[in-house]
Amino acid sequence: MLDVREIEDKINLYIGEIEDFSPESLDEVEQFRNRFLAKKGLLAELFENFKSVPPEKKKEFGAKLNALKNSVENVIEIYKKKFEKKEEDRDTEIDLTRPANHLQPGARHPLSIIRNQIIEIFSRIGFTVAEDREIEDDWHNFTALNFPEEHPARDMQDTFFIEKNPDIALRTHTSSVQIRVMEKTQPPIRMIFPGRVFRNEVISARAHCIFHQVEGLYVDKDVSFADLKQTLLFFAREMFGDQSRIRLRPSYFPFTEPSGEMDVSCNICGGVGCNICKYTGWVEILGCGMVDPNVLENCKIDSNIYTGFAFGMGIERITMLKYQIKDLRLFFENDLRFLRQFRGSY
Ligand code: PHE
Repeated sequence: MLDVREIEDKINLYIGEIEDFSPESLDEVEQFRNRFLAKKGLLAELFENFKSVPPEKKKEFGAKLNALKNSVENVIEIYKKKFEKKEEDRDTEIDLTRPANHLQPGARHPLSIIRNQIIEIFSRIGFTVAEDREIEDDWHNFTALNFPEEHPARDMQDTFFIEKNPDIALRTHTSSVQIRVMEKTQPPIRMIFPGRVFRNEVISARAHCIFHQVEGLYVDKDVSFADLKQTLLFFAREMFGDQSRIRLRPSYFPFTEPSGEMDVSCNICGGVGCNICKYTGWVEILGCGMVDPNVLENCKIDSNIYTGFAFGMGIERITMLKYQIKDLRLFFENDLRFLRQFRGSY
């Protein structure tokens, strides 16, 4: 048993300890609490010894012990609150030292990348952009473009019809937008029309029933075939590099006269010959020609005053050449392993 002196010393020692107590964590507070308030803790020990305090001192010591106990409880309460609040705040605070979460950025679709590049190239030489509907009537997809009624040229493009008599169909080419624009606008017209087109074809590595085109149309006074050639050469060099060459082969479209198909020197082998260009050194990328006067007249543009050229290119074809993609179907499958490869391109 402790005597009164010893009890008093201990009380004073503990008061000092309480005053110096400045814990750094909730754990330290807990240890402190155990040390003083546990069943066999320091306070329990003192209260045990209180029994031997002589009666005349009981009042004084009782008050001292109770004051000590209150101090211990108060100090624990204060620090507990302090640390519990910190824990809560920690959830909402931004911790700048935490490692960053790995972001998975999306990627633009390769067809969008190339479409944007085509638009950008032509915009530099004054072409503006327009789009129009994918569901067309016979007039805009065929008749106004000089496809005669019942003419076999209509079979050139296998059409998805939505309704017959009058015919409503998914457009088979973006040339329909030429008509939409010329019906509303008098020359000068210098525009490109990107869009989706549809043809009833068996899906393979080289053909699809949905694909994308960019149509070009330039109508003004004195527009010549030389203008067409220079415009296309400019485009080819911007798209495939300065070394690119082009060649025009005669062809046929009902809405252009004369008509041509343009090849660009193969940018994979530089014209030497490879499996992409089928060892010819050339790859066909577009159809073109001088707008047939009948088409201008169908749109109430005076063909005695105005001439024009038009061209239509397949975006898939150009994208495959640029990125050496060998199967057209990859564009439509949305396989992330394919799409991720275009991250960082715009
Ligand atoms: N519309 C034609 C096609 O889809 C391409 C073309 C456009 C040809 C404009 C000449 C002029 O094949």
